[in-house]
Amino acid sequence: MMRYPALSALALFASTANAHFRLNFPAPRGPDTEGELKFCAGYTEVTTNRTTFPLSGGFFTIKQNHTPWSGAVLISTEQNPNDFGAFNDTKGEQFVRYWANTDVVGNLCIPLDLSRTNIPGVRDGANVTIQIAVIGGDGELFQCADLTLSNNYTIPKEISDTCSNTTVSASASAQSPSPTRSGALGLTQQIPTYVFLLFVLGGSALAIL
Ligand SMILES: *[C@@H]1O[C@H](CO)[C@@H](O)[C@H](O)[C@H]1NC(C)=O
Ligand SMILES: *[C@@H]1O[C@H](CO)[C@@H](O)[C@H](O)[C@H]1NC(C)=O
Ligand SMILES: *[C@@H]1O[C@H](CO)[C@@H](O)[C@H](O)[C@H]1NC(C)=O
Ligand SMILES: *[C@@H]1O[C@H](CO)[C@@H](O)[C@H](O)[C@H]1NC(C)=O
Ligand SMILES: *[C@@H]1O[C@H](CO)[C@@H](O)[C@H](O)[C@H]1NC(C)=O
Repeated sequence: MMRYPALSALALFASTANAHFRLNFPAPRGPDTEGELKFCAGYTEVTTNRTTFPLSGGFFTIKQNHTPWSGAVLISTEQNPNDFGAFNDTKGEQFVRYWANTDVVGNLCIPLDLSRTNIPGVRDGANVTIQIAVIGGDGELFQCADLTLSNNYTIPKEISDTCSNTTVSASASAQSPSPTRSGALGLTQQIPTYVFLLFVLGGSALAIL
């Protein structure tokens, strides 16, 4: 990806009139956000340079500038999840965070404690893929990150320091916020472990560009 000086980067984002979001950490399968309407932003194949991710006490960071919006996180425990079905268990979509709605935008640091999901295969040393789904005025958008889980790993300070102490709550939605779409993520299901999305606001707008 090209690096732009800070100000022109802001101008660039302001002038592209789309509401696509950016997954900053853990790194997504590929840099482009243009294909986000597609499964894993169009990056269908698993990557081999997986990000080590803590089994407990993890988080992810996204840049989302369109309000209001809704987000959810799914997980696959397959080695090469390359379609939406790979993120289903026998009952349907395998959420690690159920849909929640919020007006909060910017760089967001969102807790993701995978150890509390009790999903078989989510354990120390496992290869998993998370799929982050966002609905914010631009259809339903997807980004995936391929991970290796570890119970003795701490996210480096330079990444965790981009999350400030400011905490805001988002409301959990009892049903999918996507009434017009009945595709892979469009159906409601039982709310699992996480009922509330607790967003921790990121630092300055440029901190994690
Ligand atoms: C994996 O490597 C590709 C190509 O070098 C890079 O674009 C991507 O950011 C890397 N992903 C991770 C998680 O390091
Ligand atoms: C995890 O994936 C890597 C390639 O990304 C592979 O080398 C390794 O064997 C896999 N580990 C397990 C436990 O499947
Ligand atoms: C995955 O689950 C969703 C929701 O239950 C369902 O609509 C979809 O058909 C399933 N996909 C596959 C490939 O099983
Ligand atoms: C940390 O856990 C990984 C498995 O996730 C293991 O391979 C590694 O040896 C462990 N490191 C330490 C220092 O315990
Ligand atoms: C977060 O809050 C704690 C306690 O209120 C404080 O000690 C710490 O310095 C704060 N960290 C940052 C990065 O502001």
